[in-house]
Amino acid sequence: MSYTIKINTVINSKVTDLDFNNIPLGRTFTDHMFVCDYDNGQWVNPEIRPLEMIPTHPAAMALHYGQAIFEGMKATLDEVGTPMLFRPEKNAERLNFSARRMGMPEFPEALFIEGLKQFVSVEQGWIPPQEGSALYLRPFMYADEPFIGMRAATHFKFIIIASPSGPFFNKRIKLFAETKYIRAAHGGTGEAKAAGNYAAAIRPTELAKSKGYDQVLWLDAQNFNTIQEVGTMNIFFKIDGEFLTPKLDGAVLNGITRLSVIDLLRDFGYQVKERDISMSEIIEAEEKGTLEEAFGTGTAVAIAMIQEIGYKDQKIHVSNESPVGQKILDTLNGIRNGKIEDKFNWMVKVEKELA
Ligand SMILES: Cc1ncc(COP(=O)(O)O)c(C=O)c1O
Repeated sequence: MSYTIKINTVINSKVTDLDFNNIPLGRTFTDHMFVCDYDNGQWVNPEIRPLEMIPTHPAAMALHYGQAIFEGMKATLDEVGTPMLFRPEKNAERLNFSARRMGMPEFPEALFIEGLKQFVSVEQGWIPPQEGSALYLRPFMYADEPFIGMRAATHFKFIIIASPSGPFFNKRIKLFAETKYIRAAHGGTGEAKAAGNYAAAIRPTELAKSKGYDQVLWLDAQNFNTIQEVGTMNIFFKIDGEFLTPKLDGAVLNGITRLSVIDLLRDFGYQVKERDISMSEIIEAEEKGTLEEAFGTGTAVAIAMIQEIGYKDQKIHVSNESPVGQKILDTLNGIRNGKIEDKFNWMVKVEKELA
């Protein structure tokens, strides 16, 4: 099915005000937004139009009952300046997974991809060309029906906005393994990218930061021993030459970087196991000297090397003797900028000129 997307562009782009070498994180937005309404059981009126405030009824159900989900992805430029998306079909699938879990309508995947492509084509002047920089894309859906009462809403908005982002400074990070608060339990919403998951994580993250840590390492809800994931990243450990990452058990987000890193590690010849990993096992590996490396994976930073994990009254030091993470980071960035062959066919090119 092909969709007709109405396009109404600005006359003067604000991109001329942007210093691409000094992009304020998360605060700069492009000129347009993609908007589509869910009305009478259908997605209607897909449109790209100038970014503006959206009037919101104070009874909009997302504000009260939290039916709100989102995605995060990046557009980059290849060597000849063609905009590209990284595995957008995976974000479309995950958005719909989240929608089903949260009692929200699925968004047609073909319209998701077409809307993104046209939106990125319109905003291509905002894609920073530097390696490690990108145009961050934020597709999201929320219940905008005004209603007081606990039921699934019947009116929703699906929107895509974009924000240019510079390269992240890749310092090794410190994690605080949380033993009081939890992010997700089996049967909860951990595998959905639901706004409420992040709301519940804000206070514990602020507390971890006040103790000198960068992010929270989330553990299982029963014993605070099985490792789930990091703030906005999945996690990998290299123990005795082999890579381990927590299996997807319903409480862990199915990260698209995680999936891609598993493929890259296997392609480099490493064994990767997706299974339960306990804190006791990590402590034992540190004691034996076999905890060779650990890193987080996620769209924002791609790879973040881990230096230390605080757990109860212990500090677990992670060695950095075999930085495979750096090789993975360089490979991901290289694929995203067309400098390294995309042998997995992950990149989706965007037409420079709209049809
Ligand atoms: C809780 C959480 N886990 C993991 C990830 C990594 O997912 P992805 O690689 O798709 O960005 C994210 C970021 O989206 C996240 O918010």
